[in-house]
Amino acid sequence: MLIADPEESTTTTAPVHYLDAISLGKIVQIREQLLKAQATGMRVFRFESGDPSFSVATPVLDAVDAAARAGKTHYIPNNGIPQLRAALAAKVRNRNHLAGVTSDDVFVTNGAMHALFVTFGALLVPGDEVIVPDPMWTEVVENIRMAGGVPVGVELSAADDFEYRTDRIEAAITPRTRAIFINTPHNPTGAVLSVERLKEIVELARANNLWIVSDEAYEDVLYDPWTHVSIGSLAGDYADRVISIFSFSKSHAMSGLRVGYIVTRSPLMHGRIPKLLRCSINGVNSLAQWAALAAVNGPEDHLQAMRSEYAIRRDIMLGALSGIPGVRAFAARGAFYAWVELDESAYERLGVPDAAALSDRLAASGIGSAPGDAFGETCAGAIRFAFSCDTAMVREGSVLLRAALSEGIA
Ligand SMILES: Cc1ncc(COP(=O)(O)O)c(C=O)c1O
Repeated sequence: MLIADPEESTTTTAPVHYLDAISLGKIVQIREQLLKAQATGMRVFRFESGDPSFSVATPVLDAVDAAARAGKTHYIPNNGIPQLRAALAAKVRNRNHLAGVTSDDVFVTNGAMHALFVTFGALLVPGDEVIVPDPMWTEVVENIRMAGGVPVGVELSAADDFEYRTDRIEAAITPRTRAIFINTPHNPTGAVLSVERLKEIVELARANNLWIVSDEAYEDVLYDPWTHVSIGSLAGDYADRVISIFSFSKSHAMSGLRVGYIVTRSPLMHGRIPKLLRCSINGVNSLAQWAALAAVNGPEDHLQAMRSEYAIRRDIMLGALSGIPGVRAFAARGAFYAWVELDESAYERLGVPDAAALSDRLAASGIGSAPGDAFGETCAGAIRFAFSCDTAMVREGSVLLRAALSEGIA
């Protein structure tokens, strides 16, 4: 909804500010509702947002302390500290198989969120279309819009295990299409793109001269037997047109430290991205970058332990959601969300018209969720529950959730 500025003259038509067309985010609103309830002493179950419950690994905390005490608290290079850029280049070459990446191809950002802001800002001119999965974590389309772009949704469906379909992507291409956006593992569904599908997307992009923007924030959150493949590793001589986005938030539970990074070999992006970094943040917080260096160079047992715990939480939640008439939960292959579709009959039984109303009712009883319409145009009947909060909360909350979806909410 566009909001008129009360300070503007009523006799002239005020220009519409682009931010007035951007939402504040439904999930943020639900979170605030839950936090208010919590402040009154109510027990709340934080299933609305994907913030890992784990503490940051000790060597990472030690690195923050050591950097602070060593006086590494001054301005740092705009694109990231050289040691971190070098370590990230090695990481993406060795783990993501992004061939030939050097430090110069890595840009450290304030989380993957800021990486999206910078990427779309550097890539798009007003009116450029970007093809995105629908549903999709909302901030992706908001960042496209803020850069003047137009998100074009491609429906994902349960019948395809929520895999992005190449025929549907192809049908969405127009002369204004600039990029195909992909996200695997996927928020909100937990789908993981197969190697075959990724290869098809590369070929489609190549045939239509399109960029690929690949959000890999959940690259380390996977369930057996699913594995993560970076699309950039399959792009061959088209790799310069792939922009890959990574984050320390989910894999290393460093969401509050705000470190992400962009990997791009494109000379065009090398010219533009530093300008946006300089004018938006002038470099990510130095201590967070030293923390990220310790995390990327550190042992991987912490990551493995978190993955195992997420698998336990996923199974608890899926178990609680199974066998409820008219309620179907997709078994996440990656990320930490249960994406649940409800039939009309289930809404009738629960006495609510849709997922938005269901989400409000659940929040009033202390259970967080994110309604489908927060993620796109095609999924108003679905609802997302995050299981990134601690296991005891997932266990206790899942029992209440099952009761709420089976018997209704008081
Ligand atoms: C798909 C996806 N991309 C990017 C992000 C942003 O993560 P951050 O900014 O914490 O790195 C999120 C966060 O939930 C996400 O779900």
